[in-house]
Amino acid sequence: MTRAEMKSLVVILFVRLTLTLFTACSTEGYKPVIIVHGLFDGPKQFEILKRFITKSHPGTIVSVIDLYNHLFSLEPLWKQVEGFKNAVYPIMQSATDGIHLICFSQGGLVCRGLIATLDNHNVHSLILLSSPLAGQYGDTAYLKLFPKLLKSEIYRFCYTRWGQRVSICNYWNDPHQRERYLKTGSFLAQLNGETAHQNSTRWRENVLRIKTLILIGGPDDGVITPWQSSLFGFYDKNENIVGMKDMDWYIKDVFGLKTLHSRGDLKEYIYSGVLHTKWHANYTVYNESIDEWLT
Ligand SMILES: *[C@@H]1O[C@H](CO)[C@@H](O)[C@H](O)[C@H]1NC(C)=O
Ligand SMILES: *[C@@H]1O[C@H](CO)[C@@H](O)[C@H](O)[C@H]1NC(C)=O
Ligand SMILES: *[C@@H]1O[C@H](CO)[C@@H](O)[C@H](O)[C@H]1NC(C)=O
Repeated sequence: MTRAEMKSLVVILFVRLTLTLFTACSTEGYKPVIIVHGLFDGPKQFEILKRFITKSHPGTIVSVIDLYNHLFSLEPLWKQVEGFKNAVYPIMQSATDGIHLICFSQGGLVCRGLIATLDNHNVHSLILLSSPLAGQYGDTAYLKLFPKLLKSEIYRFCYTRWGQRVSICNYWNDPHQRERYLKTGSFLAQLNGETAHQNSTRWRENVLRIKTLILIGGPDDGVITPWQSSLFGFYDKNENIVGMKDMDWYIKDVFGLKTLHSRGDLKEYIYSGVLHTKWHANYTVYNESIDEWLT
């Protein structure tokens, strides 16, 4: 090989290497973001959030899953998990670098079910925005599903085979009807490891494969009751609040929450002055607690 040939070879190799690096960077960009809506809403409600994301991270592919919208959001949650899984999985597969999930309200429980049962998910940030993670015990104006029933009576409907066909009953958590709650073995009781499930060990491993869990909620939410449920807190039998770290399933690390926390991969954000339906349209919330987790 002559000196000239050597020189051109070096140049070719250098150009190749630069090109490879360049393509790697440009195709990498931002990871796709998938949004899962909540009870009684659908993709239309997330236009503003979508705009926030594409403005701060240009080129991000944002998909708001168009499934179980509005009244169909009352379908039972395990069924919804299967539906959303079918929609989300192809997006995951084409995203070699992984994806981020933003899940609002009831959608947070759908996402938890999805992550627990998807053995090969590639979710990096799991952002749960005002989601009833430890259950719901409040019948608010927005949630006036049972106009003739007091909240203390709702268990009579929810903790039955029929009741469990309605999404809300899958996470209705009446602190005065603990035994019935556990016996019905609702979606939430299974997910939180309060009732035994055949696959709970694998679910836990799958949960631990996410990179970061981001929890967002606040006292003026007005729908999630108690609002601390959005941060894995809940009522005891006297309706006093028990914080996440004092929950039995946290202490026993049943579904991986304590491990995520000790790994430094659990982030909590609390905001006052945000109504339930305003979370995903609030720029302050987006800028401070979501933006940095979408890279
Ligand atoms: C446990 O997981 C397997 C494999 O995904 C599934 O076929 C089975 O139905 C699951 N068991 C229950 C009780 O959901
Ligand atoms: C947005 O969030 C900020 C921070 O908590 C809050 O003070 C403000 O009231 C919220 N705005 C709306 C319209 O929800
Ligand atoms: C977004 O948050 C950063 C700090 O995290 C702050 O410096 C910046 O001013 C905020 N942007 C707006 C438009 O509020």
